[in-house]
Amino acid sequence: MKSFLQEVSFGLSKKNKKLSSKWFYDFKGSKLFEQITKLKEYYPARTERKILKDNKIEIANKIGKGAVLIEPGAGDIKKIEIFLSSLDKPKKYIPLDISEDYIIKISQSFKKKFPKVAITPKGYDFSGSDKLPFKINSSENIIIFFPGSTIGNFEKKDAVKFLKMLKMKFKAKKIIIGADLIKDIPTLISAYNDKKGVTAKFNKNILQRMNTELGTNINLNFYQHLAIYNKSKKRIEMRLKAKKNNNIRINGSKYSIKKNEEIHTENSHKYTIKSFRNLANEAGWKVKKTWVDDKKLFSVHFLDLGL
Ligand code: TRP
Repeated sequence: MKSFLQEVSFGLSKKNKKLSSKWFYDFKGSKLFEQITKLKEYYPARTERKILKDNKIEIANKIGKGAVLIEPGAGDIKKIEIFLSSLDKPKKYIPLDISEDYIIKISQSFKKKFPKVAITPKGYDFSGSDKLPFKINSSENIIIFFPGSTIGNFEKKDAVKFLKMLKMKFKAKKIIIGADLIKDIPTLISAYNDKKGVTAKFNKNILQRMNTELGTNINLNFYQHLAIYNKSKKRIEMRLKAKKNNNIRINGSKYSIKKNEEIHTENSHKYTIKSFRNLANEAGWKVKKTWVDDKKLFSVHFLDLGL
C-alpha cells in the first residue's frame, strides 16, 4: 500500500491537485463522519436505515442460512445491526475499515450484543490490493454488505473493478449494496455542505492529518470547503479551495497553492436504478431485487451471480 506521504506528494504535484478521500478516515475523521450521518441534511444515512429496516425479513430470506458477512469500510457498524438478528444462524461478521483503531474500538460493545456471531474486526484498505487479513472458505455463504453509497466514491471503472474483485478475491456469492439516487441538485448539495459545518471539518481533516502526520504547517483557515454537483458526471465533488496563496512544505519539497486554486478531495457518484443495474452487470453481477424509499432518494440492491 502506498503511504499517506507518497500519495499526498503525488496528488499535490499534479496540475489538478488531488487528495484521496480515504485519508479522511483516521480515528478523528471516522468520528466526524459518524456525526455527518446524524445531520438533518445528510438524508442518505437515515433513508438507507429505513429501507433496511422496512425490508429486513426479505433481506434475511435472500441472505439465507449460515451467512459469513463481510463489510468493507464498515465505519460505525450501525447498519448491519438492523437485520443481523433477523438472519438464520449467521456465522461470522467481519467489519473492515481503513482506521484499525476505530473499528476495533467500535466493535467492542457490538460483540457483547451478538455473542453467537464470531465478530472479527480488521484494519483493511479495500481500495488497495493488500492480501486479505483473514481466511476465506469459498464453500461458505459469503455475503458482502456495502452500504452508505460508498460505491459512489469510486470512479465508474474502479467501481466495476471493485465489484469484480468482491467475486474473485472475497469469493462473494451475494452483495447487499446501497447507492444514492440522482435527485434535485439543492438536496444533493446540502447533504455535502451542512449548516453546522461538520462536513467542512471532515473535508479539512485531511489537511489536519498532514499537519500532524507529515509535519506540514497548513493553516486550515486558508481553505474553504466546497461541494459542487457535476451534472455531466452525475456526481458531487468535494474540494478545498485556497483563499490565499500559500506553500505546503513536505519532506524537503515545496508545493505552491495559488489563491482560488482547488484541491479535489472526493467524488460521490449518483445513480439511477437503471444505471446502477448496468454497473452491476458490467462487473458480472445480477441485480435480483431493488428496494427504495417512498421519495426515491436512495436505493438498496441485492446482487447475486445469477447462477
Ligand atoms: N459514501 C458517502 C457519500 O458519498 C461518503 C460521504 C458522505 C462523505 N458525506 C461525506 C465523504 C462528506 C466526504 C464528505 O455520500
